[in-house]
Amino acid sequence: MRANTLRSIRGMRDVLPEDAHVWSRLEATLEDTLNSFGYQKIRLPVVEATTLFRRSVGEFTDIVEKEMYSFESRDGESLTLRPEGTAGCVRAALQHGLAFNRVSRLWYRGPMFRYERPQKGRYRQFEQVGVEAIGIPSPALDAELIEMNCAYLQRLGLGDCVRLRLNSLGSADARAAYAAELKAYLQARRTELDEDSQRRLDRNPLRILDSKNDATRKILAEAPKLDTFLDADSERHFEALLGFLDSLDIDYRVDPHLVRGLDYYTRTVFEFETAQLGAQGTVSAGGRYDGLVEALGGRPTPAAGFAVGMDRLVLLCKEVDSIKLGPASPLVYCVAADSLSMGYLMRLTRRMREEMADLRFILDTQGGRMGAQMRRADRAGADWAVIAGDRERQSDRLTLKRMKELGEQETLTYDALVARLSGEPLSVRLGGAGGSD
Ligand code: HAM
Repeated sequence: MRANTLRSIRGMRDVLPEDAHVWSRLEATLEDTLNSFGYQKIRLPVVEATTLFRRSVGEFTDIVEKEMYSFESRDGESLTLRPEGTAGCVRAALQHGLAFNRVSRLWYRGPMFRYERPQKGRYRQFEQVGVEAIGIPSPALDAELIEMNCAYLQRLGLGDCVRLRLNSLGSADARAAYAAELKAYLQARRTELDEDSQRRLDRNPLRILDSKNDATRKILAEAPKLDTFLDADSERHFEALLGFLDSLDIDYRVDPHLVRGLDYYTRTVFEFETAQLGAQGTVSAGGRYDGLVEALGGRPTPAAGFAVGMDRLVLLCKEVDSIKLGPASPLVYCVAADSLSMGYLMRLTRRMREEMADLRFILDTQGGRMGAQMRRADRAGADWAVIAGDRERQSDRLTLKRMKELGEQETLTYDALVARLSGEPLSVRLGGAGGSD
């Protein structure tokens, strides 16, 4: 590569064709699962007003403090590439009346942007499939959201390598009372905390519970516990949720240190984690956010949701080899011997595509010598070549050549050629240049 060749931005990756088919398979499985639970797709903008994220994700979170791609638009408004999807989805639900006196079950997908330090499983542009249910206060909804995760993981053959952790943060008041108590306790031992936790102490002490630092964890072991601050309603809500998970036979671990990095959560929070991706092992995460609709200007409305990190799910599928790609459909490579025959071949290729939708057709639009075109057919992994020259055009026929095995060929009428190709069993080829997506 030349020294001055442009490259993609750090942390923003290209997904090449050999991986794109794994993505497509995953997206289709997720979409089927979400549809089967009655959730409807919503398509949302990638750019939103910066204030939306300040008011929802929270001023003193890592995301808002350090990770947003914000810029001034030409008219001076501060805009941000969305770092997550919940805020935009709730904004849209409010704007279009989807959250007023009705229940909305929504899902979306697309790129999110966070200026984090890139590493395996952590990127600056990453893809989420997000699910938000607005208007339901019951813990049965929390259980349903968790079950949806179990359902697609099961369908992808990942049921055994992902574990569920969950916790309750209580009401906003309970959480604030606990944060004050925790802060007072940690303040007394401030100098023993790691640097990151010291920084968080003033602004967002709950996030310290997440610390991986050994010294900090030791101090946390004796810290006041969040569950002793839970309000009675939140406690009942959490107990009921655990009961539903038991009746669904879903394994879980209650983790009193699970707090999540976004401020809008109340009550239930959960994460699905794998041990197989190193430090970035959370493949899906979410929880309840009963105060967010009101914080964004709506009437008080309960809501909950989660988002799947698709980049990590793809990595995990590849790691455990859980995606078995089916056979690719046969590839037919269409070759014209000269430019007069090209128009004739184009017309017939269009007909073949319409009439044999389960086959793939590449028309060699580069042209040139027959030998060169046939070599390209070979490189594309074609099963058949369809050739049109003077002779074929004048007799209203096409030549069909089998590319693999003996390479026999015959000149046929269009109908005979369709009959021959339609009888072709699927070839068993996985991926590769000619592989299907
Ligand atoms: P989150 O935990 O920030 O939650 O992100 C959800 C998932 O997105 C993570 O568990 C992870 O799989 C993936 N993810 C996050 N950051 C990155 C990154 N830099 N690179 C690759 N993957 C990443 C939310 O975003 C909430 N909006 C989820 C939610 C929806 N809560 C309620 N509704």
